[in-house]
Amino acid sequence: MSAEAGEAGARLRALLAARGLDWPAEIEHTPLSPSTNDRLKQRARAGAVEWTVVLADAQSAGRGRQGRRWSSPPGNLYMSVLLRPAPPDARWSVIPLAAGLAVGEALAAEGLDVRLKWPNDVMAEGRKVGGILAEATSGADGLESVVLGIGVNVAVRPPDLPPEVAGAVTCVAEELARAVDRVMIAAAVLARLSVWYHALAREGPRVVQAAWRARAVPWWGRAVEAQSGGRRLRGIARDLDEGGALILELEDGTRAVLHSGEVREVRPARD
Ligand code: BTN
Repeated sequence: MSAEAGEAGARLRALLAARGLDWPAEIEHTPLSPSTNDRLKQRARAGAVEWTVVLADAQSAGRGRQGRRWSSPPGNLYMSVLLRPAPPDARWSVIPLAAGLAVGEALAAEGLDVRLKWPNDVMAEGRKVGGILAEATSGADGLESVVLGIGVNVAVRPPDLPPEVAGAVTCVAEELARAVDRVMIAAAVLARLSVWYHALAREGPRVVQAAWRARAVPWWGRAVEAQSGGRRLRGIARDLDEGGALILELEDGTRAVLHSGEVREVRPARD
């Protein structure tokens, strides 16, 4: 479907305008995409401008972090946004955190008690409700763009998840016990992302890092287990560094700085 041929694209633009945001780029809406990230990377390579958005009603090959699949039935939010930060510097690495923060704030504005789990899971009542897949595209001169893929289970808990995952996943409508408009969520996410992106350019990564930390699951100072780069580590979650990496204090007192991976809290065994 061509740019904004779908009603959702035009509605999203109107909702952004109602928030005082004259969206500076195309919003492409399609009923079904294999993956909005793949579509937007293609558009980025063809020269799409910063803030181009691709929105789909469903995905046939949605992708999650670490090569996982992202189940994408109709009713949820599947959106990708193109950023072209200049100059490409250390600030790039906190852009995914800014996106997670934007999703967290958009859902909190709907009344959901949202927490962020490193690196970028959006959680409600301890269950995952959304996630971010950030992918860079590069050209001859190095990094050229970041495609931020945003998936939020708005109306439905994906029905086709393996049993070991299904219990750890929820959706906004179920948590709030009411219907929620995914295009309104999309508008709120884009509005908050725009705020954080400009704050990042103006004030540097600390501003995003501090806001993210304040909305994080409350595990600072607690024992966690991390799976990162083929290693399994146990330690105390201490902080995020300026680039968004997780700092762990290991059992031998040394520090580990994790740039990617999965982390879970290790609860002390009860007597
Ligand atoms: C995660 O594993 O937590 C990240 C999930 C990201 C899913 C979104 S849905 C829109 C975009 N297109 C994709 O194929 N993936 C991302």
